[in-house]
Amino acid sequence: MEEVEGRTAFVTGGASGIGLGISTALVTAGMNVVIADVRQDHIASALEGFAESDRPTSVHALELDVTDRDAFARAADDAERTFGRVHVLCNNAGMGILGPVTVARYDDWDWGLGVLLGGVVNGIQTFLPRMLEHGEGAHIVNTSSMAGVLPVPNAAIYITAKAAVIGLSEALRSELAEKGIGVSAFCPGPVQTNIREGRRTRPERYGDSGYTELERELEERPNSPLWMDPYECGERVLAGIRRNDLYIFTHREFRDGADERFRAMLASFPDEPLNEERAQAIDFLLSNPIFGEVLERRRS
Ligand code: NAI
Repeated sequence: MEEVEGRTAFVTGGASGIGLGISTALVTAGMNVVIADVRQDHIASALEGFAESDRPTSVHALELDVTDRDAFARAADDAERTFGRVHVLCNNAGMGILGPVTVARYDDWDWGLGVLLGGVVNGIQTFLPRMLEHGEGAHIVNTSSMAGVLPVPNAAIYITAKAAVIGLSEALRSELAEKGIGVSAFCPGPVQTNIREGRRTRPERYGDSGYTELERELEERPNSPLWMDPYECGERVLAGIRRNDLYIFTHREFRDGADERFRAMLASFPDEPLNEERAQAIDFLLSNPIFGEVLERRRS
């Protein structure tokens, strides 16, 4: 979507960190932005910041827990009442849920997957029909993570969700291109945000956790000044929307690790002759044009 000016975006987790960086970049580019966030204190400080910007009336904020499907529908109605049709959806809300899988309890899995994957699903289920109906073109950005491409230990729940968000984005991309809706999987590396405060958004109903102590410790961990600035992240997302990128990466440092992962996969295929007859029978499963398009665009 090259032309973003005057269009409307809906950004979940938009009141802090990366979501706020995305919202700021989109507002600066002339969009109207609806910020949806579960933390009222984040909303208040984000609105204070926008009040001092050039375009304070281009931002509308509402409280939303992305796991609440009815509230999501009401938030979409509210967004449309405020700014009209929504053209960009950033499914970004999330928290760090980290720790060894050996101590994870069902509440950890249910909360983690509920927000990090379920929240994205709910965003799509809420907004996709509305985007198809207005037919003016749209773009969906799903925040995954570099960890979704390059998994590390002690983050199984997080990685399960983030890897699924990449697969989900690729699947959507395959289906929606013809309908004028672009889809990007956004995979940032470390960014200076409030992600360490995740436990503050953990609902009581998911209180039987194996990570209680770890979450307290995580909250004390400071950001490094070497991590990326959230606004820079937001600008990269804006550029990705404009170019209709399938993948939006932020950190060159992860390239070699990703390369090793993909080579490990390729090296694990059976080293045996191709069965031509079988290949023909399943040729619809053997490739996907979305990948060729990325390579083609990189070449040009
Ligand atoms: P953040 O804590 O600064 O911002 C996340 C926002 O999401 C917060 O304002 C929080 O209140 C909101 N949120 C949390 N649960 C929610 C829910 N159930 N419903 C609605 N809003 C909710 O953290 P950050 O880092 O900006 O996180 C944004 C996304 O970026 C997350 O999906 C995270 O996994 C991802 N990410 C972050 C990285 C980092 O280094 N900070 C790296 C890779 C991915």
